[in-house]
Amino acid sequence: MLQIQENVSLKNFNTFGIDANAEYFVEINRKEELTELFLDPQWKQTKTLVLGGGSNMLLLNDFDGLVIRINIRGIEHRISQNEVFIEAGAGEVWNDLVNFCVIRGYAGLENLSLIPGSVGASPIQNIGAYGVELKDVFRSCNAFEPATGKFRTFSKEDCRFDYRESVFKSELRGQYIIISVKFQLSLIPHFNLKYGAIEQELAHRHITVPTLKDVSQVVSHIRVSKLPDPSTIGNAGSFFKNPVISADQFRPLQTKFPEIVHFPTGDAQIKLAAGWLIEQCGWKGKVAGHTGTWKNQALVLVNHGDASGAEVYAFSSQIIDSVYVKFGVLLQREVNIIS
Ligand code: FAD
Ligand code: EPU
Repeated sequence: MLQIQENVSLKNFNTFGIDANAEYFVEINRKEELTELFLDPQWKQTKTLVLGGGSNMLLLNDFDGLVIRINIRGIEHRISQNEVFIEAGAGEVWNDLVNFCVIRGYAGLENLSLIPGSVGASPIQNIGAYGVELKDVFRSCNAFEPATGKFRTFSKEDCRFDYRESVFKSELRGQYIIISVKFQLSLIPHFNLKYGAIEQELAHRHITVPTLKDVSQVVSHIRVSKLPDPSTIGNAGSFFKNPVISADQFRPLQTKFPEIVHFPTGDAQIKLAAGWLIEQCGWKGKVAGHTGTWKNQALVLVNHGDASGAEVYAFSSQIIDSVYVKFGVLLQREVNIIS
C-alpha cells in the first residue's frame, strides 16, 4: 500500500539544503507502484515533481503538489564477448553504479565518478564530466507516462541528447518518469584522458598505464579539490551551462579579451568557460547574504546557511546581468528551477 505523507520537509532531499515543504510526498520502490498511484484520478490532476537525489534543483518555494521520490533499486549485468550490458533501477545512486562497474572492470563510467544523484536523473541532462557524457554509454531507458499509465522505452536517438540537454528537459519535460536505464560498457577500456587535469594528476602520481580504478580515483580527487561537498555546504554543482557561441560572436570577444577560456565543440562553435566569465566579473568566492559563489569554482552557487531558493535565484540573476553587460553573453541556468 502506498504511503502518501503530507507536509514533508524537503530540506534533506535537496543538496542545496533549501528549507521548503512538499504538500504531499510519496516514495516509489517498484514500478508497479507508479501504475497504482496514477490509477487514482486525484494524482493525475495534481502538480507533481519527480525527485531523485535532489542534486540538480533549486526549490523556489514550498511545493504545492505531490513529490514523487524514486527509489527503484537493482543492477543487472550481462557480458557478451567484450561488451557489458547493464540495467540499473532509476533509484540507484549514480556513484554506486560507477563503483559497481569500476570494481568489476567494466569500462565506460570511470570519468563520471562521484557525480551526485540518481541513475534515473542521468539522462535528463545527459550528465557529463571530464570528456565523457552519458550518451557515450547509454543504450535506452524505460519510463512511465502518468497521463496514459503506459511504459515506454526510449532509444538513444529518442532521447535527443546534447550538451546538458535531452528530450526530457525540452519537448517532453515533466511528462515521463524514468524507471530504469540500460548502458553498454566494455571489458576493454578506451580511456579518455584528454582533459588536462586528468593527465596532470596521473603524471603527479607517476601512473603511465592507468587502470579503471586509477582514472576513477583521479577524477574523484580533482572533483573534491574543486567542488564543495553538499553534505557540508549546500549547492547543486554548476549553476549555469557553459555558453556555446558561434565563431562570429567569438572572434571580437577574443580580440577584446585575449585570455578568454574557450574550447572548440567540434561543430564550428565555441564553448566558453562560464566559471571564467563569472570570475572576471568579480564574483568568485563572493558572499551575498546567505548565498554566494564557491571560492574554488565561480560556476557553483552555494547556500551558506539559511538561504531561500528565491535568494539564490535573485543572486543568479545578478550574475547573469553582469556577465551580459561585460561580455554580451547570456548565461543559461543549468539547475532545474522548481516553483
Ligand atoms: P534531481 O535533482 O532529483 O532531479 C533533477 C531533474 O531531473 C528534476 O527536474 C527532476 O524532476 C528530474 N528527475 C529526477 N529523477 C527523475 C526520473 N527518475 N524520471 C524523470 N525525471 C527525473 N552534473 C553533471 O552533469 N556533471 C557533473 O560533473 C556534476 N557535478 C555535480 C557536482 C555537485 C557537487 C553537485 C551537487 C551536482 C553536480 N551535477 C553534475 C548535477 C547533478 O549531479 C546531476 O544533474 C544529477 O544527474 C542529478 O541527479 P538527481 O537524482 O539528484 O536529480
Ligand atoms: N574557470 C575559471 N574560474 C572559475 C572556474 C573555472 O577561470 O572559477 C576556468 C578555468 O580556466 C578552467 C575552466 O574554466 O580551466 C573549466 O573549469 P572546470 O574544469 O572546473 O570545468 P567547468 O567547465 O567549470 C564543467 C561542468 C562540470 C564538470 C566539469 C568537468 C558544466 C556546466 N559544468 O565545469 O559539471 O564536472 O566541467 O568536466 O558543463 C555540473 O554540471 O554540475 C558540473 C559540476
